[in-house]
Amino acid sequence: MLLFALTIQFVASVHSLPGPGSARTAVSTPIDLTPRQDIAIPPALAAFPSGPLNQFLKLISSLPEGAAALDAVGLILTPLQQTLADAVGIDTTRTDLAQNAPCADVTVIFARGTTEPGNVGLVTGPPFFDALSKQLGNASLAVQGVEYPATFAGFNRNGTDGVPSMTNFINQALTSCPATKVVMSGYSQGALVLRSTASSLPADTMAKINSVVTFGDPGNPAAITGAEGKTLIVCHENDAVCKGGFITVDHLTYADDADAAAGFVVGKVGGE
Ligand SMILES: *[C@@H]1O[C@H](CO)[C@@H](O)[C@H](O)[C@H]1NC(C)=O
Ligand SMILES: *[C@@H]1O[C@H](CO)[C@@H](O)[C@H](O)[C@H]1NC(C)=O
Repeated sequence: MLLFALTIQFVASVHSLPGPGSARTAVSTPIDLTPRQDIAIPPALAAFPSGPLNQFLKLISSLPEGAAALDAVGLILTPLQQTLADAVGIDTTRTDLAQNAPCADVTVIFARGTTEPGNVGLVTGPPFFDALSKQLGNASLAVQGVEYPATFAGFNRNGTDGVPSMTNFINQALTSCPATKVVMSGYSQGALVLRSTASSLPADTMAKINSVVTFGDPGNPAAITGAEGKTLIVCHENDAVCKGGFITVDHLTYADDADAAAGFVVGKVGGE
């Protein structure tokens, strides 16, 4: 309880967001934040300043049970991650389709993970886009984040909260930019958003998708509807989320796989 209160204060002081009073109102039951893991900073996140990163990892490692309690912690995690992103200059919001940016050679539509800030989050999307941009060389890249709340409660709705937004952006990309190669991607709950979207889209729409990449995918290892032969599911051996379990540090290190995932996409763009 002490750590929880301290952390709220930390976030409030950095962001002028819901201060201790309002954040506490959202927490109706005491939350047990007993650390369940020893935390070491993963190499992929070592570039982040250690202060906020340690706070973030500590919280992740001691998340309480129950969606309501988890969503209360999410009120802290989201601004904490945005603080990290701001500190290292990472853009957590990408809106190329929403802003009708010029058509690009490749368009990634990405759904972020639970509690991640912005619309593409921090730990998986931005490193993946950077790697892809580098590997595409002169070919241009557009990125659009799926607009959805990404709450813990939404996780139990199988990612359906994000289906309308992902569907709209896919249809927009295919209609406005018929020559662009559309990549569907999602991390954690975002992978569920992707799966639920793929299941609900007409087969001829899925046939026009160039490739599909999920990270830390709770639906692993099931196939993704309509994406046979063009799917990469990236799941760490010790990521319990990929086996129906809870978040561990192995769920937070998919930046390590950005180059490999980008290589897969570039291969599909080139017609592999
Ligand atoms: C990329 O563009 C530069 C400058 O226009 C050109 O010199 C180079 O050959 C291009 N590279 C590829 C792989 O097309
Ligand atoms: C979740 O969505 C996937 C993909 O649409 C589907 O295969 C699965 O049956 C759904 N699970 C539940 C519990 O609704």
